Amino acid sequence: MAQSSLKNLLAEDKNVIAPLYGKPDVDFVEGKGSYLFDADGKKYLDFVAGIAVNSLGHQNAGILNAISEQAKKFIHLSNLYPNYPQIQLGKKLLEITKFDKAFFCNSGTEANEGCIKFARKYFDRKGEKNRQKIVTFVNSFHGRTFAALSATGQPAIREGFGSMPGDFVHVPWNDCEALKKEVNKDTCAIMLESLAAEGGVMTLSHEMVETVNALQKEFGCLVIVDEVQAGMGRLGVFLGHEKYGLKPDLVSLAKALGGGLPLGAVLLRQKIADELKPGDHGTTFGGNPVACAAGLSVVSQIATPALLENVKARSKQLKEGIAKIVAKFNFLGEVRGEGLILGIPLAQEKSVGDVITAARAEGLLILSAKGNVIRLLPPLNVSAAECDEALQKLEAAVSRIA
Ligand SMILES: Cc1ncc(COP(=O)(O)O)c(C=O)c1O
Repeated sequence: MAQSSLKNLLAEDKNVIAPLYGKPDVDFVEGKGSYLFDADGKKYLDFVAGIAVNSLGHQNAGILNAISEQAKKFIHLSNLYPNYPQIQLGKKLLEITKFDKAFFCNSGTEANEGCIKFARKYFDRKGEKNRQKIVTFVNSFHGRTFAALSATGQPAIREGFGSMPGDFVHVPWNDCEALKKEVNKDTCAIMLESLAAEGGVMTLSHEMVETVNALQKEFGCLVIVDEVQAGMGRLGVFLGHEKYGLKPDLVSLAKALGGGLPLGAVLLRQKIADELKPGDHGTTFGGNPVACAAGLSVVSQIATPALLENVKARSKQLKEGIAKIVAKFNFLGEVRGEGLILGIPLAQEKSVGDVITAARAEGLLILSAKGNVIRLLPPLNVSAAECDEALQKLEAAVSRIA
């Protein structure tokens, strides 16, 4: 087992790293499969999975091999030149999703910036220069760069950063009437997550999907689906929206795509690609060859019936197990979510932070979502035995704070 070289990791972190996260005092030195190990050799079941990044667990052999093989050839080339790692990953994504073109970037927020820019450019080139308005949702999360932040329906994280890019409006999640009031012939796009994970693990209602589809048809606006967290197999289908029946013109991907390396993507329809020209958008690092080689391994492993079936089976197992725990503690609300994004709301008098700390003491890593919600994001290849272990540890953690 690797040993940490730092004596006081958290103190060193405070001295060196900008204070943007509240971090626990834990020194992870190695990951293997669904587990992380700290410097004392303590084992943690990782149901955070790098916030839905390590979807195939730690030290996945296919990803490691793809990275080392590509690194021996070239690590970076530049988007000035075509390269096979990008093309092969793009081809694979288009084949699976039936989209027409791919644009690669480095992160979720960049993928969303790409979607927003491509949507506006599309209407601009078509001569519909007034079509700028983008309708998104209260409590949505689309990223931290300015346009993605403006799209994000959480005013608190915009506070103090001055003026935001305009023409973004937010309507309450699953409020069909509010959405209808905001969408008209000047609407550029409706932008939504296939499952609002950060915002509290909120699923889409059938009526909302029908409303989005009807408005898209009636007004010819584009639909952008943010699949950064809920895509890449996490809902038991390759892209989350397939589960609900949305018909996106643009999709953003990131998180799991690069197997732990920074990689994002926009998938777009041909009609939008037809309106784009060299110079309209760009990136130095986006679509890095090593990240794309890792991505090809990730996509090939995720887009298999066996893996997607595992997501569904483990989801059912976890939901049933959590329901039994919820029945024992009156401060826990009903389990919600889909696939392997699961949320458990907590009564206001209890703190989700305390549950996370108690779970870590039990050797289980979990995280929170908005609204005092416990969130679980296990790797997609998690086993039935590991899910049983997680349920036991979760119950022990909840008992600690009862
Ligand atoms: C749905 C969604 N979109 C966008 C982002 C932003 O991604 P990134 O942090 O890679 O910029 C996130 C990150 O949590 C996300 O969950």
